[in-house]
Amino acid sequence: MSEEQEQRRRVRSFVRRPGRLTPAQQRALEDLLPIYAVPDDADTLDELFERPAPLIVEIGCGNGEALCWMAAREPHANFVGIEVHEPGVGRLLRGLEAAGLGNVRVAMRDAVEVLQQQPEASIDMLRVYFPDPWPKKRHHKRRLVSPAFAALAARVLRPGGRLHLATDWVPYAEWMHDVLAEQPALENLGGPDVVKPDWRPETHFERRGLKRGHEVRDLLYRRRPDVECVGPPGC
Ligand SMILES: C[S@@+](CC[C@H](N)C(=O)[O-])C[C@H]1O[C@@H](n2cnc3c(N)ncnc32)[C@H](O)[C@@H]1O
Repeated sequence: MSEEQEQRRRVRSFVRRPGRLTPAQQRALEDLLPIYAVPDDADTLDELFERPAPLIVEIGCGNGEALCWMAAREPHANFVGIEVHEPGVGRLLRGLEAAGLGNVRVAMRDAVEVLQQQPEASIDMLRVYFPDPWPKKRHHKRRLVSPAFAALAARVLRPGGRLHLATDWVPYAEWMHDVLAEQPALENLGGPDVVKPDWRPETHFERRGLKRGHEVRDLLYRRRPDVECVGPPGC
């Protein structure tokens, strides 16, 4: 099977639902995406910025509320937000423009493909906040966090780089913990109880989960400098 066929066959962590765009979001996609977009053929994410700086990537950044907050609070870092949902990206772009943030770029594509294109040891931190939990057993295969994702994260993180995840679905937190424990190149920095770090704001989906009485869990890992990553191809 060719690489292209393999990509098409891969189960994805999202389903593209035609969300309705407001006129403002539509305008943002037309006028602002060309300014902030990560080109599909970019060799590295670093090259998109005019200055060398720590590179932080948020996967599934939704409407970008948290990303705008973090990028304003950490102006010394370069950020890339990856999100496939068009209305969310429209809102993110409007937020970036309103806040005048120059340290953010946006990829409106499958995050797995974006990371697969990145060179080894090229990202300082991956942040994955409230990924879709896919609670039904028959949908577990859609969960973003999988052995293949753990290997991919270990490959793209710089030695000492970190992977930070949060979820309001405790069974998914346990799943993440078990899956990531199998990747020797990732060291669990927090054990089962990580206190929410101050770099993460409360997110849109987190608020929704809290209103429903869900418990929130944060998980934090470090790329071990001296250990080879193991696992599926791409590692
Ligand atoms: C539950 S929402 C959480 C959004 C945001 N992080 C928050 O906490 O409010 C998960 C988001 O991840 C996005 N997503 C899921 N899989 C993705 C992928 N492989 N690449 C890019 N975005 C993805 C979805 O479109 C959705 O917007």
